[in-house]
Amino acid sequence: MERISTVSAMQARAEALRLDGRRIGFIPTMGYLHEGHLSLIDEAKRDSDITILSIFVNPAQFGPNEDYNSYPGDIARDELLAEKRGVDIVFYPSVEEMYPHKQLTWVNVETVTEVLCGASRDGHFRGVSTVVAKLFNIVKPHVAVFGQKDAQQVAVIQKMVDDLNMNVIIRIAPIVREPNGLAMSSRNIRLTPEDRKNAVILSQVLFRAKDGILKGESISSVLAAATKDIQAVAHADLEYIEALSYPDLGPMTDFNNDLLIALAVRFGNVRLIDNILIKKSS
Ligand code: PAF
Repeated sequence: MERISTVSAMQARAEALRLDGRRIGFIPTMGYLHEGHLSLIDEAKRDSDITILSIFVNPAQFGPNEDYNSYPGDIARDELLAEKRGVDIVFYPSVEEMYPHKQLTWVNVETVTEVLCGASRDGHFRGVSTVVAKLFNIVKPHVAVFGQKDAQQVAVIQKMVDDLNMNVIIRIAPIVREPNGLAMSSRNIRLTPEDRKNAVILSQVLFRAKDGILKGESISSVLAAATKDIQAVAHADLEYIEALSYPDLGPMTDFNNDLLIALAVRFGNVRLIDNILIKKSS
């Protein structure tokens, strides 16, 4: 596995691969890899002949009171996992390499960034779309893979790619869950053992909500039941649970669109998100 840490070296390597007719599959990550990330690598490998994984904890997508400084990281462990899963190149730039000057150009996707996590994480999606646009210009992928766990991020990135005519295919990989149903996240490591057990409530309420909807219950009644169930769990501080049409993230007026039920819950200073998608054909 090759390791590249400068923008110029990565751009030159990507350009050479393209000239050689190779199809580049890209997995952008913030590291501390888990099985969810590794499933993105598998997805990228299915549709490319070179896979490039980036590891970059992007300061621009963290608010001043968020967990940028405590975000978990272990580059040696990540490199081993990536290599074992068949990644060809790891791109691991520093903050100075990615943001050498004050950034004056930002990618701001409107509307879909204003709801769910965007309502409380001011500037978060602006930071995400900007760094993903930069990474696309550096890694020059044909295909990039994102996880459905960050459903709103997927909607934002797809909109950016469509609106800016970016020549990259976005693939979405399903949520990978721990055996008890907790969605895998790099942040799970920061939960206390008790909170980690209790956090199973997130997926439980989502599965119940989906069942309820498919049985004909109203959206408002399943959301009310889910809210009550989360509020009954020790230390679980519900930030939001909402049902929106997907991927436009507008109000759900009828079942002509897919329905996304998404939530964010804090356990102490660890903020977890999860979601479930109900396809209109279900
Ligand atoms: O999902 C993530 O890990 C990050 O938001 C991403 C896409 C790597 C951008 O920093």
